[in-house]
Amino acid sequence: MQTEVARTDTELVTNDTVREAVGLLQQGDVVALPTETVYGLGADALDPDAVEKIFKAKERPHFDPLIVHLPNKTAIEKVAEIPDEIAKPVRQLVETFWPGPLTIVLPRKPIVPDIVTGGLPTVAVRQCEHPIFHRIIRNFDGPIAAPSANLFGKISPTSAQAVLDQMSGRIPLVVDGGACARGLESTIVKIIPGENKPTIEVLRPGPITEVDLKKFGKVVFPQKNVDVEESAPEAPGMLANHYAPATPLRLMEKPEDFVPESGTRYALLSYRGQPKDGFIDLYPWDEVAVLSPGSGRVAEAGIRFFHVVGQLDQLNVDEIIAEPVPDRGVGKAILDKLRKAAVK
Ligand code: TXA
Ligand code: MG
Repeated sequence: MQTEVARTDTELVTNDTVREAVGLLQQGDVVALPTETVYGLGADALDPDAVEKIFKAKERPHFDPLIVHLPNKTAIEKVAEIPDEIAKPVRQLVETFWPGPLTIVLPRKPIVPDIVTGGLPTVAVRQCEHPIFHRIIRNFDGPIAAPSANLFGKISPTSAQAVLDQMSGRIPLVVDGGACARGLESTIVKIIPGENKPTIEVLRPGPITEVDLKKFGKVVFPQKNVDVEESAPEAPGMLANHYAPATPLRLMEKPEDFVPESGTRYALLSYRGQPKDGFIDLYPWDEVAVLSPGSGRVAEAGIRFFHVVGQLDQLNVDEIIAEPVPDRGVGKAILDKLRKAAVK
């Protein structure tokens, strides 16, 4: 299969592209689409044969469920049940963060095929903020199942080129909507009713942070070390060994922990690129890539993370040594990915 890339730089091209993408979705095919987080691989969420093509293209195990993207806020009622006990916080989260990078796990409705939820009694839903995605889903007028457009376990793509690098020949179309504004996958939450206020369990940290969420409930980060071998974990994005570049990657908590082996070529993934952090001058690195040049802002590091790791991965060094980033805000999501990338 030849993979076409549809550029979307002019209004005219965009109209043709939207039509083409919607046509493919309607005929039960998969299309790579830009979102504000990472590129997604979309298909008609209500058509099990179409969704099967996503699993095939990604080589994804069937126990790992997909996120359902909604054409509008009210479509949530079509695919999910909203229990009365959590109706208020769900409404507040939807009103505050949609369209945007927040995915909510809710009891599913029978209309959602088993293949989408991996047989779980729940469905993960979000409304995407990207204008091109928005136009496509509005014209398609139905829910779109879309995981990140990478091969299972590999790093997520934040540009059309990064999609092609992994998906060329596997899918008919990549809609190029430019670089993703957030660069990290959506925050996934589950809401547990509480006496005074609900608990918001963060199943996957992402661009919507603890500070953003805590107005709406008690925020907790359950520490579940789900293993790849287990079936149907609650959020298999929490699987160990995920987001891995081909090059081995190690998160180095402290500069003193680094003991280089002779004859080994190392690249440094630096947070701020500043000598005072203790990593830059530690070793004559083959390459140094900086996540947040100068400013040291976790949000910037998040936007650049997958892109920069992807670039380092092309260099054929023996190992990537990653500096830690601050464990706050979007930094939590970056650390989560670094820890998973580092699992052998
Ligand atoms: O930002 C995003 O969320 C991107 C864009 C494309 O929307 N999508 C994305 O999808 O990251 P994916 O499939 O790569 O990650 C979805 C995660 C998986 O870890 C999956 O296990 C989890 O969501 N998930 C899906 N349904 C779930 C459910 N019912 N309960 C718990 N976790 C679920
Ligand atoms: Mg993914």
